[in-house]
Amino acid sequence: MKKILITGGAGFIGSHVVRLFATKYPDYQIYNLDKLTYAGNLENLSDIDKNSNYHFVKGDIVDAEFINQLFETERFDGVVHLAAESHVDRSITNPMEFIFTNVVGTVNLLNAAKNIWKDNYEGKRFYHISTDEVYGALGDTGSFKETTPYSPHSPYSASKASSDHFVRAYHDTYGLPTVISNCSNNYGPNQFPEKLIPLFINNIKHNKSLPVYGKGINVRDWLYVEDHARAIDLIFHKGATGSTYNIGGNNEWKNIDLIKKLIEILDRKLGRPEGTSLQLITYVTDRAGHDLRYAIDATKLRTELGWEPTIKFAEGFEKTVDWYLANEKWLDNVTSGSYQDYYRKMYGE
Ligand code: NAD
Ligand code: DAU
Repeated sequence: MKKILITGGAGFIGSHVVRLFATKYPDYQIYNLDKLTYAGNLENLSDIDKNSNYHFVKGDIVDAEFINQLFETERFDGVVHLAAESHVDRSITNPMEFIFTNVVGTVNLLNAAKNIWKDNYEGKRFYHISTDEVYGALGDTGSFKETTPYSPHSPYSASKASSDHFVRAYHDTYGLPTVISNCSNNYGPNQFPEKLIPLFINNIKHNKSLPVYGKGINVRDWLYVEDHARAIDLIFHKGATGSTYNIGGNNEWKNIDLIKKLIEILDRKLGRPEGTSLQLITYVTDRAGHDLRYAIDATKLRTELGWEPTIKFAEGFEKTVDWYLANEKWLDNVTSGSYQDYYRKMYGE
């Protein structure tokens, strides 16, 4: 494989995937296609953007004409598709944006790949990155398997579920060489501070209240972002065509316990007496349709491809906090301007 298109490469997970591919495979040409929405940030790639095998293309996957033209010109050999609207809360206030980017955008990419590859699918691959949220919510026990029926509850997860169905349909109908993975919650450097962990790090740092939805009893399975990027690399190269792989950290946390752990680490690192920031915890109205619990069974990925998470949570969590504290400028840049409007609308302060 020579020319790889990575969509959404300026975002959180995409930037880690671009870095891994551009450094690990110097003989590949890596094209990062990103619209640079509020969540896209080229600063995330400042360490590798001079690499001769890295190319940035600004563009919108919703624009079919532009996408078709790009594929015709560049004749990509593979696609790793991460571009998406990714925040559940924003999908509740503005679902249409999610339908355009996540559904229409994905189908545009499928069509463009099909058009340029139709005469010979040999050596080609369309890899769609999805989420565990498509499976819905679990009770206190059990875990999602690749065969778990889809049951999305938010406009975000419904749009991701829809895009997964289209990817499978293009495999089954046209033989497009696709592969899908569904991953649990990622954490790590460069995550936009609308998501729980970076939002709360920033708020603790600035002594702002910590808006815990509902009773804080919802459970998420957390995976360090570089472990997700490694899984993506493996699945892209070795995953079975037409297959789906679940990816998870085997690392379930109740939100309130995770938040207390974060407070413990930050109070220590900020030189505050132990427990000082606990007073910032504020229970607020629950997220509408809030899924109680996610848990992933990643047995297939482990047994078929030998993947395991390598970063222990205690280590990854400390590293993450250290990164946000050390990268004050990054955090200040992304929390200025329109972020302030979002925050006021979302949290009313
Ligand atoms: P993110 O919001 O940080 O980044 C998304 C990127 O896509 C941004 O750079 C944005 O500019 C770009 N983008 C958005 N709309 C676009 C459009 N119309 N055209 C081109 N580019 C566009 O998201 P993330 O958290 O890095 O998630 C990446 C992918 O992984 C998504 O598909 C998401 O559903 C999936 N995922 C995320 C998680 C998680 O915990 N964050 C877990 C599982 C799966
Ligand atoms: O499971 C994978 C998914 O994880 C990805 O597909 C999504 O793109 C990603 O955003 C993430 O979704 P969540 O909704 O689980 O992540 P978020 O960080 O928004 O919320 C994590 C938990 O914390 C969730 O139970 C809601 C809660 N929460 C979140 C925010 C932002 C709060 O209690 N308060 C908050 O202010």
